[in-house]
Amino acid sequence: MTQPLKILITGASSGIGLTTALHLIARGHRVVGTSRHPEQFDRMELRAKVMRDHGRYRYREGRLEQTGSRLPRELADLDVLLEKLILVRLDPNQESSVCAGIGEALSALEGRIDILISNAGLGIFGPVEEVSAELIQQQFEANVFGHLRVVKQVLPVMRAQKQGKIIFTSSIGAMMAIPFQSHYSASKIALERLAEGLSMETAPFGIQVAVVEPGDLNTNYNRTTAKAISPLPDSTTSLDLESLHASLQVPGSSPYYPRARNAWRYIVASLPLKPSPSVAARCYVRLVEAKHLRAFRYRVGDPGQTIPAQWGRRLLPDKLVEWIYTLIYELNRK
Ligand SMILES: NC(=O)c1ccc[n+]([C@@H]2O[C@H](COP(=O)([O-])OP(=O)(O)OC[C@H]3O[C@@H](n4cnc5c(N)ncnc54)[C@H](OP(=O)(O)O)[C@@H]3O)[C@@H](O)[C@H]2O)c1
Repeated sequence: MTQPLKILITGASSGIGLTTALHLIARGHRVVGTSRHPEQFDRMELRAKVMRDHGRYRYREGRLEQTGSRLPRELADLDVLLEKLILVRLDPNQESSVCAGIGEALSALEGRIDILISNAGLGIFGPVEEVSAELIQQQFEANVFGHLRVVKQVLPVMRAQKQGKIIFTSSIGAMMAIPFQSHYSASKIALERLAEGLSMETAPFGIQVAVVEPGDLNTNYNRTTAKAISPLPDSTTSLDLESLHASLQVPGSSPYYPRARNAWRYIVASLPLKPSPSVAARCYVRLVEAKHLRAFRYRVGDPGQTIPAQWGRRLLPDKLVEWIYTLIYELNRK
């Protein structure tokens, strides 16, 4: 066990951020997580989210069934870990909220932030031609500008300490655009380029920077993506495929409708069968506890997805990769 570290994680009310926070607490670290509205999450609510994200699902006669939940051994004392999680209010989209949130986090962490896991984010879905300017702005606010606001507040703290680590949550979608999620992919590659530059700028101050690119994981991400475009019933325990399918906001009259519907159905239906966020959390734990980060980019998820994506992108011609994605996302399905 390494020395306990003081860690700040944005977007820790759910999914990757929440699970990573709990894994780090289980390792003895002190963790402050952020949420735009922490008052909405009591321990029972957070517990239900963790159980759902570690659920086992299967399809029977076309319907999704949860067959149980299996918590990894690291989260065996889930209730104890949840008691130790401190959630502070921080909306990355608002400067004043970021300043207040970082202030509160610093008090809880006794004036130190050894590690920032800059993770909060969301995805939007729709054809480039049709997605509204407002939604695009929301996408870049959450996935780029929000990260920058937080990082700008944390850097002076880390420079004064002469030590720190900033780990960004990017996505496998930064490697290659996901059809009808072009804005999401664009926001993630923008984030990665900023992180690359930051890494070179902060090295003399002892601040290391890395990027984690998760493949598809079973989190609330789908529901949040759908919510960004239409209101959804807010049940945290059931996955409710029907309402997720119905949440596709590309109208039937759109020339993009058939392909968008196929891609949305594929994404919505496949995500529950993907690995739990604990797969990513273990990677964050390794990065947090490593003295020196040997690489800049770390890919996590189902190797059946991440390895072909990585090597396919490096070795295959762009047009061939495009054709493979067209097949995977069933764009031409009738
Ligand atoms: N799940 C996947 O398959 C996957 C794959 C690759 C990358 N990722 C990335 O992983 C990160 C976490 O996603 P997740 O899968 O854990 O999804 P999630 O369960 O929906 O969690 C998203 C977190 O981000 C915060 N958030 C949501 N919308 C926001 C907004 N507009 N502005 C600021 N914060 C917002 C939420 O906190 P509050 O609502 O409480 O503020 C929540 O804690 C994201 O950056 C996502 O792009 C996910």
